[in-house]
Amino acid sequence: MTDFRAYTVSIDYDRRLYRQDVAGSMAHAKMLAKQGIISDEDCAQITQGLKTIEREIQEEEFPWDPDLEDLHMNIESRLHQLIGAAAGRLHTARSRNDQVAVDLRLYTKETITQIASGLRGVQQALVGLAAKHHDVVMPGYTHLQRAQPVLFAHHMLAYFEMFQRDVGRFRDCYQRTDVMPLGSGALAGVAYQTDREFLARELGFSRISANSMDAVSDRDFVVEFLAATSVCMMHFSRMSEELILWSSGEFGFIRLADEFTTGSSIMPQKRNPDFAELARGKTGRVYGDLMGLLTTLKGLPLTYNRDLQEDKEGFFDAADTLTTTLDVFGAMLPGMNLNTDRVSSLAGESQMLATDLADYLVAKGMPFREAHGIMRQLSRHCDDNGVSLQELPLAEYKKQSGLFDQDVYDITAQSSAAARDNPGGTAPGRVAAALKEAKMILEAAGNGF
Ligand code: ARG
Repeated sequence: MTDFRAYTVSIDYDRRLYRQDVAGSMAHAKMLAKQGIISDEDCAQITQGLKTIEREIQEEEFPWDPDLEDLHMNIESRLHQLIGAAAGRLHTARSRNDQVAVDLRLYTKETITQIASGLRGVQQALVGLAAKHHDVVMPGYTHLQRAQPVLFAHHMLAYFEMFQRDVGRFRDCYQRTDVMPLGSGALAGVAYQTDREFLARELGFSRISANSMDAVSDRDFVVEFLAATSVCMMHFSRMSEELILWSSGEFGFIRLADEFTTGSSIMPQKRNPDFAELARGKTGRVYGDLMGLLTTLKGLPLTYNRDLQEDKEGFFDAADTLTTTLDVFGAMLPGMNLNTDRVSSLAGESQMLATDLADYLVAKGMPFREAHGIMRQLSRHCDDNGVSLQELPLAEYKKQSGLFDQDVYDITAQSSAAARDNPGGTAPGRVAAALKEAKMILEAAGNGF
């Protein structure tokens, strides 16, 4: 027969909050004693009991009981077994509603700190790659068609920028998570002279919540966390897509370390970029976690509703997915091997220089539109005749415009990149400055925000 109680049980996943739950309870007991709501002796016993419980859970000796539904009831019941009557005083001036809110906020703050450090590691790896290949020119793409030469370092630093914005999003989310809800009780506040500011200090929150009804039902901070996580995974997914393309035979730009590729069970030559593919795949799951919570919350009246228990699994799933993705990329990127000969030679292919040849005519006085039209003709001509722009005789150029001269052959991938010498452009000097700036940002940030 169906065990209907099991439907309500959260212990299988909310036990992950045990350290935060114990910390919240210890601070609460300390505050109750300070305010004369419980005796110092009871507080000492409670604290001792909670320490034992924390150790039992850590050492996997804790007697979890699914009949007790959730983490909070399990801990309270065990405290009774350990210290007797005093355990019954811990839940004075508190409800599971503000208790679970404080647990989840503490956990989210810790997770964000861990994510920030992981993101810094990935940024460090990108800066390392950019520095290692600082002068390598590669094809830049639009529409996945070769477009203009760019520095490989410029391409790496594009991802640095994305992750820099991600760090900012997590920092914002941290600020709104950093609010202490204990003292809100079930929904209306508590009928005791508690000291909420003291609790905030004890638990490392920078401020207390302003409205008890909001505080017990607010999960915006989890939504924001999931949104920031989704955007960040989207960035990893885009990077993964490039790593996958680049490591194909068709591109042949990079070789990923053996550790991060797998062979095929039937095709011996294969080096599949599974880690990048899985990062791209897992991104979908994380979007699902975000949509799940938004949907859970959308119809809820104030204040606490049991639906809120459904906030946790998606949250843990997204947090685990991102933190492991950060570990993987932090380790995979430094070992990525760039085929510099191949990318440089493709960057030098003449069709990529068509824009520069148009710019050449502009420098000699022609309006850009007209120059663009001429280069379109010449590019077509090259395509049709299977020659490159570099191989095209000067006479052919001259047929299109008398402004062409011998120096048209001086245009190369290097000169093309060097010409893009404006802020944000790919000229080596600009990229070197951006790299220096990136290093300074990382130095100032350490492994935090
Ligand atoms: N397990 C619950 C949750 O995660 C804890 C709060 C329960 N509160 C209640 N009134 N049933 O949301």
